[in-house]
Amino acid sequence: MFTETSKPRLRDRVLRSALVSVLTGPHGVDRYTELVEPTWTLGDARAKIVAVRRDTPRSVTLTLESNAVFTQRGTLAAGQHVNLTVEVDGRRRTRCYSPANAENDRLIELTVGVHDGGLVSGHLHRNARPGMVVGLEAVGGDFVLPAERPKRILFVSGGSGITPVLAMLRTLVAERHTDQDGAEIAFIHYARTPADACYADQLAAMTGVRVLHGFTRGGSGDLVGRFDADHLALAMPNPDSVFVCGPPALVEAVRRHCPDARSESFVPPVFAAPTAASGGTVTFAQSGVEITDDGRSLLEQAEAAGLTPESGCRMGICHTCTRRKTSGAVKNLITGAVSTSDGEDVQICVTAPVGDVALAL
Ligand SMILES: Cc1cc2nc3c(=O)[nH]c(=O)nc-3n(C[C@H](O)[C@H](O)[C@H](O)COP(=O)(O)OP(=O)(O)OC[C@H]3O[C@@H](n4cnc5c(N)ncnc54)[C@H](O)[C@@H]3O)c2cc1C
Ligand code: FES
Repeated sequence: MFTETSKPRLRDRVLRSALVSVLTGPHGVDRYTELVEPTWTLGDARAKIVAVRRDTPRSVTLTLESNAVFTQRGTLAAGQHVNLTVEVDGRRRTRCYSPANAENDRLIELTVGVHDGGLVSGHLHRNARPGMVVGLEAVGGDFVLPAERPKRILFVSGGSGITPVLAMLRTLVAERHTDQDGAEIAFIHYARTPADACYADQLAAMTGVRVLHGFTRGGSGDLVGRFDADHLALAMPNPDSVFVCGPPALVEAVRRHCPDARSESFVPPVFAAPTAASGGTVTFAQSGVEITDDGRSLLEQAEAAGLTPESGCRMGICHTCTRRKTSGAVKNLITGAVSTSDGEDVQICVTAPVGDVALAL
């Protein structure tokens, strides 16, 4: 995805040398190099914001230049997501975002929709500016185009759910997908009003893509009302593949008409909150902390106990919070499945204790 120049390779060799390690111990070289250039690190994947756009009243689009550590950790396919970390009021906060750029672009583009009362989205919308440095980890995800591209593809998105499907669309456009015989692409985007429609100008400028807009709270678009059989027929009857990302109601509506549609939603699945605290002892072994289970997820209980385990989506998608359960029974809050095996990895954001549990945390 990214090419490394010889200059950073030489610099990295010098920084990794035993002499530099001795000179900079015990803090590590990153704590010194970041004073000169915050993205110049050996261990921390970071990115610098190089451009900021506020194209709609409720979104902010960031263009990021990642450091070598990020690029060395692998490539991202269109549709996958990253974990972005920012400091808000002195605490590091991490959230998942799906880049909207085509898969081989050098720069990463994130569009963040503002959530009323949302911590990170509100912070970025208010404060993001060129020069700001953020933490960035490539995470992954399986909402991606198949290696063998289907011929006739329909993309459907709602609100900020446009990002992963736009990344797929931009990738196909770069591949000149529609130059092939029988290949077609249609793109439906739903927004509250025309002013809220992200990427409207960029979509309008794409040749060979049938773009339709629907507005759910006012303004007349190409489509009236919510996704239904008429919208499907207008966009692309009988597509080979459908990709949808947006609020759960949109995903469900698309699935009713296209049962094989691949989907992603940024909204948490409905959690089956445990009916009662088990009262068991939860041991965070590495921290030497023991608490009595209060019924919440292991992540929330660890945070309440003053620990700061890594987390991203906090809804069982990104695996950032995965920790080794060394003993005890736990319940998956999404599936309701109880698991008792020792030595298994659990996503602590969607896992609650069922009795005594010991965790490597
Ligand atoms: C795989 C994946 C990809 C994603 N990609 C994108 C993307 O490309 N673009 C994008 O915009 N988003 C994306 N998201 C969503 C993103 O990760 C965040 O969830 C989103 O930005 C909201 O974060 P926040 O910190 O602003 O909100 P949070 O502070 O985490 O709050 C989340 C919600 O809870 C509400 N809330 C917070 N506190 C309270 C309270 N006390 N009482 C009641 N409600 C409250 C907020 O209003 C908000 O709606 C993605 C999510 C996933 C899982
Ligand atoms: S924080 Fe993403 S899976 Fe737990």
